[in-house]
Amino acid sequence: AKDVGILAMEIYFPPTCIQQEVLEAHDGASKGKYTIGLGQDCMAFCSEVEDVISMSMTAVTSLLEKYNVDPKQIGRLEVGSETVLDKSKSIKTFLMPIFEKCGNTDIEGVDSSNACYGGTAALFNCVNWVESSSWDGRYGLVVCTDSAVYAEGPARPTGGAAAIAMLIGPNAPIAFESKLRSSHMAHVYDFYKPDLASEYPVVDGKLSQTCYLMALDACYKGFCQKFEKQEGKQFSILDTDYFVFHSPYNKLVQKSFARLLFNDFSRNASSIDEAAKEKLAPFSSLSHEESYQCRDLEKTSQQVAKPFFDTKVQPSTLIPKQVGNMYTASLYAAFASLIHNKSSTLAGQRVILFSYGSGLAATMFSLRFTEGEKPFSLSNIASVMNVSEKLKSRNEFPPEKFVELMQLMEHRYGGKDFITSKDCSLLAPGTYYLTEVDSKYRRFYAKK
Ligand code: ACO
Repeated sequence: AKDVGILAMEIYFPPTCIQQEVLEAHDGASKGKYTIGLGQDCMAFCSEVEDVISMSMTAVTSLLEKYNVDPKQIGRLEVGSETVLDKSKSIKTFLMPIFEKCGNTDIEGVDSSNACYGGTAALFNCVNWVESSSWDGRYGLVVCTDSAVYAEGPARPTGGAAAIAMLIGPNAPIAFESKLRSSHMAHVYDFYKPDLASEYPVVDGKLSQTCYLMALDACYKGFCQKFEKQEGKQFSILDTDYFVFHSPYNKLVQKSFARLLFNDFSRNASSIDEAAKEKLAPFSSLSHEESYQCRDLEKTSQQVAKPFFDTKVQPSTLIPKQVGNMYTASLYAAFASLIHNKSSTLAGQRVILFSYGSGLAATMFSLRFTEGEKPFSLSNIASVMNVSEKLKSRNEFPPEKFVELMQLMEHRYGGKDFITSKDCSLLAPGTYYLTEVDSKYRRFYAKK
């Protein structure tokens, strides 16, 4: 199979959200802390009738319908998620009724999990399958679905929720440059979920930021080496049109891109002109360790990177700023933002993605765009996702109602024998929602 990659995409996020400015005031944080300090505008969350399963059902059925794909044509279905509703039964199995109805039960794949990285693992599994000798000619389907919620405190504003479905096959308008992939994996306790009775993670915020940046450096270093080996020339940020980052919050994306520029400076790459060299020179003597803690370096490299950031990164920041961290879906929501903003001009261009999951697992990889043919064309993907409309038609919660909902969800997590309000008045037609969890913990859903 040639040009294996993403043929089609659909994104779903809950229509329920809270403005960061409002949450900031409610939490007693200093003005600008969430909006400028974290760089976030708004945060989506699941109400009591939604969860990662209902969101993934909505994304999958909508993708199949809107691109007119016969469910029989799916040969592999992979789910990435770090939201645990069941320690054994995969989310994938909850999606099977969509295919069973059409007589298709011959579908490989289950769930992948490692914090925010599970979606990338799922995506690679599908791409590798289509490129392999066990491929049977049908499509792969990847679903990234998560609800990111944190206990009250500084991490709470970095929540979010969404599901993304991606159809995988040959001759794709978004094709993998499979040789350009570099990973960094290690054992750390930066963010983890050891308490099985709680949906909230245990998180060392500062450590998770440093781990993210260290993983980014390691992946970029490996990526540059692979590029240089393949292309016979040095890589710099000028060799790609866009960078898309896993986005826990926008400030970290700004810091990440600046870090890549600092890497280019250290390698004496072509993206660094004389003026930039002069500004960054004072930091050349810092040790690797010191460089992560140096505020002046952070500030200066962000300043030098700013013009590049505006063209190469900014177009992918819309949905993560508006919806929040969607864990496994976060990187792909950033990618969806790029397609939404730039669909008509992407053909012929390259984009590099950075996936990070705490614990930790990280990969940097490269994709190439071509316009493609309808329904699998860039412009059609943008129009199906309909991002502006979805963002506009949301319902803003006041903070008291949001906090009350978080308390109810804490109570319900891992629970059984309850019926939800079944109130789907805020949901768009076609959205799945949770109706009941019975005395044997079995979950039931309905479609609006
Ligand atoms: N105006 C403008 N900026 C402000 C203001 C203000 N009034 N107040 C604070 N800030 C800035 C701070 O200077 C800081 O910016 P900096 O990083 O450039 O210095 C930023 O706001 C955050 O404030 P802090 O006090 O440093 O951090 P806080 O204790 O609020 O925690 C954190 C932030 C660590 C991100 C927390 O929200 C968290 O733990 N989130 C979850 C973990 C996470 O997302 N990690 C990322 C990778 S792992 C993953 O994907 C889950």
